[in-house]
Amino acid sequence: MKQDHAPLEEIYGVNRWGKGLISVSADGDIVLCDPNRKNAPPVSLPGILRDLEQRGVTTPLLLRVSSFLENEIRHINQSFSCAIERVGYKASYRGVFPIKVNQQAQVVDRIVEFGLPYDFGLEAGSKPELVIAMAHRLSKDALIVCNGVKDAEFIRLAILSRRLGFNTVIVLESPKEAETVIEVTRELGIEPLLGVRVKLTNQVGGKWQESSGDRSTFGMNTDQLIKVVDRLRDVGLLHCLKLQHSHLGSQVPDVNDVRRAASEACRYFVELVREGVPLTHLDLGGGLGVDYTGEKRAGENSINYSVEEYCANLVETVAYAMDDAGLEHPVLVTESGRAVVATSSMLIFDVLEATLYDAPDAPDVGPDDHHLVSDLAAITGYLVPERIQECWNDASFYRDELRALFRRGAIDLRQMARAERIYLSLTAKIKAVVAVSDMTGELEEQLEKVADVYHCNFSLFQSLPDVWAIDQLHPIVPLQMLNQTPDRRAILSDITCDSDGKVDKFILADGISRSLPVHSLPEDSKYYLGVFFVGAYQETLGDLHNLFGDTNVVTIDLRADGGFDLLHEQEGDTISQVLSYVEFDPADCVAAFRKMVDEAISDGTIKSSERKTLIGAYRDSINGYTYYE
Ligand SMILES: Cc1ncc(COP(=O)(O)O)c(C=O)c1O
Repeated sequence: MKQDHAPLEEIYGVNRWGKGLISVSADGDIVLCDPNRKNAPPVSLPGILRDLEQRGVTTPLLLRVSSFLENEIRHINQSFSCAIERVGYKASYRGVFPIKVNQQAQVVDRIVEFGLPYDFGLEAGSKPELVIAMAHRLSKDALIVCNGVKDAEFIRLAILSRRLGFNTVIVLESPKEAETVIEVTRELGIEPLLGVRVKLTNQVGGKWQESSGDRSTFGMNTDQLIKVVDRLRDVGLLHCLKLQHSHLGSQVPDVNDVRRAASEACRYFVELVREGVPLTHLDLGGGLGVDYTGEKRAGENSINYSVEEYCANLVETVAYAMDDAGLEHPVLVTESGRAVVATSSMLIFDVLEATLYDAPDAPDVGPDDHHLVSDLAAITGYLVPERIQECWNDASFYRDELRALFRRGAIDLRQMARAERIYLSLTAKIKAVVAVSDMTGELEEQLEKVADVYHCNFSLFQSLPDVWAIDQLHPIVPLQMLNQTPDRRAILSDITCDSDGKVDKFILADGISRSLPVHSLPEDSKYYLGVFFVGAYQETLGDLHNLFGDTNVVTIDLRADGGFDLLHEQEGDTISQVLSYVEFDPADCVAAFRKMVDEAISDGTIKSSERKTLIGAYRDSINGYTYYE
């Protein structure tokens, strides 16, 4: 709970995790910096929000920054090109974006557009995703890679797409799937482009450890691989098998795991070619991580490598392995999703109110107060830094004793309220002493537990599902007032009525904290918080807990003059829309409500003049935003 007087971006570590895209201005605003125009003035995020509010777009809001997305696609492709040139690699790189990571049309369309110069393709893990991929004009050399469990219809569509010039690769996940492919190929009389998914035995670290190694649920072991190769040879389709695929799991923290896995994948590749398989493409899947904390270390929310290093390691590993085996270099494919889209979206919401776990003043103690109340109040008499832990211990003890007395009926509600107020004012004083001391340890941890609760206008389950499900950390920062030292610490609670709907782990410059430094809420303006790097997985995995729907979404582009262009606006779900997702017909709801109103008028419970107001209010709600307005 230290009061930090360092420059404020240093409290939140913005310059550490912000990748040069997000920074803090001298005015204390979070600003967005155009990676494509280094000299353009940064754009104030609160300024963007003010402008959007004037246009009628309110928070909670998902803001997509097109320039950031373009930058990531260029960065990955150029990093591979540089590595290929430096190593003297004799084939090209063909990235594919896994649609499952962000299936929103606005995102996929832009990825395809920005990816055109790099022959960037798409990865489809299901029939609907293949349908999306086939609705896009990709460059003639771009790939569509089909992973996941496939039925005959999926396979039929993939094979037919070849007639339109799509390079659609059906990655065989099992011998059974190979049989379906053989049948559909015979039925259509069109040759497929095939791949095989191999199961690597190397395990990687991080949250997705289970996706790699022997027990991973996808891919074929050596025995299955050989069976598939022999079967394809028998039916005269081995010449269609061009791509070998493997995927390590997402967010691989340690680059050496990437290198080890790539080496193992190369061993399979070399052996398959020796078996007579005419492989030309080596697909190493996803896994390129995002440094959410900016710590640059192999941890769950950080990575110990850069994009350039990742690309260089893959290119070098494959080049050496192929040279050793005397094989031609294959076209290198990766399926980076997170690293492509995570940075380009941010969730922005306003704080609705605060529950404070301290109080500025305490009532005077009188002769009628219980002696434990006097003991509690007397703690201020020895509240000095050297005895601060003792003060906290005593305050907690007396407060607990008083609560026990209240439960037994020995003190009344007013007495208990006075005791609570004294306790809360002591907490404020103790927090203030600890804030300016160098104290760390147990007391600091205990005080984290009495941080404020800032109630925020968003749903964790809809907008940040991985924070709830897998303890994902995203950088979270106040968007304004960063030229003023934050005077409070808070955890964030969302507006679902679920006690899990909270964020209580934060990335700060000096590590992970159980509370976020924040400012006392201003009386005359909204206080906004931003959650960064939410572009990967969050939108699709989000759910309708408490029927909070999609937030408003705005896509912008940063302009050279420090302004922004609004490229696209998508209004958040209305109540009527979320009702229909759970099979309620909004018209039926209105009709049922109207019937109840009319019955109440007939009963004489309400006046007929109230009818218009009641039905109007119901209708307005049903057409409105699901969030706090
Ligand atoms: C087969 C496959 N490819 C690519 C990805 C994307 O991985 P990432 O987002 O880590 O790049 C995944 C996701 O786990 C996947 O299952």
